[in-house]
Amino acid sequence: MTKPTAKLEIGGESPEHEFDILKGSVGPDVINIASLYKDTGMFTYDPGFTSTASCESKITYIDGDEGILLHRGYPIEQLAEHGDFLEACYLLLYGELPTKAQKEDFDYRVTHHTMVHEQMTRFFTGFRRDAHPMAVMCGVVGAMSAFYHDSTDISDPHQRMVASLRMIAKMPTIAAMAYKYHVGQPFVYPKNELSYAANFLHMCFAVPCEDYKVNPVLARAMERIFILHADHEQNASTSTVRLAGSSGANPFACIAAGIACLWGPAHGGANEAALNMLSEIGSVDRIPEFIDRAKDKNDPFRLMGFGHRVYKNYDPRAKIMQKTCHEVLGELGIKDDPQLDIAMELERIALTDEYFIEKKLYPNIDFYSGITLKALGFPTTMFTVLFALARTVGWIAQWKEMIEDPKQKIGRPRQLYTGATHRDYVPIAKR
Ligand code: SDX
Repeated sequence: MTKPTAKLEIGGESPEHEFDILKGSVGPDVINIASLYKDTGMFTYDPGFTSTASCESKITYIDGDEGILLHRGYPIEQLAEHGDFLEACYLLLYGELPTKAQKEDFDYRVTHHTMVHEQMTRFFTGFRRDAHPMAVMCGVVGAMSAFYHDSTDISDPHQRMVASLRMIAKMPTIAAMAYKYHVGQPFVYPKNELSYAANFLHMCFAVPCEDYKVNPVLARAMERIFILHADHEQNASTSTVRLAGSSGANPFACIAAGIACLWGPAHGGANEAALNMLSEIGSVDRIPEFIDRAKDKNDPFRLMGFGHRVYKNYDPRAKIMQKTCHEVLGELGIKDDPQLDIAMELERIALTDEYFIEKKLYPNIDFYSGITLKALGFPTTMFTVLFALARTVGWIAQWKEMIEDPKQKIGRPRQLYTGATHRDYVPIAKR
């Protein structure tokens, strides 16, 4: 059977240029245009990469039209329902669900990397107390390469594995430290007998003056929230980590780059922006005013937590997040959360509005997460930190896949240049 190809005719000239069509196991085929510039002297042009596959991957598959999200083939709904976060981490990193023995070994290894170098506690004191926790995370995670030299040689599989475990294990500790520093409370050390999410909640909310018992329902909700945020194909921050890693930068520096990218309100910062938006709306009767603003081309306002580059259907994570939100509010006895009322009414109106239907704008993962995280006790400035904590395993898994790809090379896009052509320097006296 002849290989499928795509033919490109430029300006009616022959010969046509022919490019191989590559087929994945599922999802859109791709046209391999790697030789396009050599063959035609032209680049493709795709700002925002709306039609560009940047890599081959086996980790996560999204069908945006059907609202499907699979991690190594397993639906997010099943992973969130049945497993815990470290099981999802194992799956993303190694490609298979762990056996009981593999899970116990992985849990043990991660748990015994949760402490950070004691010197890092002094690193925090350089920040203002009112610094945004995401600024602290960018700084402290980037600084990990200054503390863990023995796991920065990316050519050594053992060091790559140690760096991966360190990142997954230490992100909750560092995130909790960023929170404690922000609120002016002493740091709380990890406790090895606690599960991943319970340990995180303990490090955030325990204080030295009394015992703190983690609520198991809230710990389960936290695990599920982490699972929902773990990985999401080639999103902006993952692409940032891959591009940073393609130069051979150490994994801690790459993850710090991913954290910086995630911070943007169009990406991971949307959970913080969505809750701020609900506060700004303030009451259900003001929703129409904001819906009109979101539709107004001259108004930069957008409904935060709505819309997605890939999902043109309901984000499957948003449905699970909404269910988790009701569970958490129920467990905490929060009967009527005005922001939840506004969010539910905003969703109902938006999903029946012609503009949102035509543009296929649905709630995404960030729409309900803010209400849930606020109910768990986190300030809005911590919401994206929790997203980064959970996404670290996705960034690491994608980085590992790229580094282990024998075809891997440094990423270096080109451009359409529309600036000034050659001109000679003019001395200032003659300008
Ligand atoms: C995340 O990529 C990922 O996978 C990301 C993520 C992950 O897990 O990594 O899923 C996490 O980042 C989720 C998205 C969080 N961001 C927000 O909720 C911010 C609000 N959403 C928008 O900024 C926007 O929808 C994006 C950024 C998410 C997607 O933008 P696109 O794909 O570039 O789409 P677009 O901006 O071209 O919008 C298409 C149209 C535009 O109208 P037209 O120019 O065609 O007339 O839809 C409109 C937009 O104006 N539109 C919105 C809107 N989102 C898009 N209008 C009002 N409110 C919105 N939220």
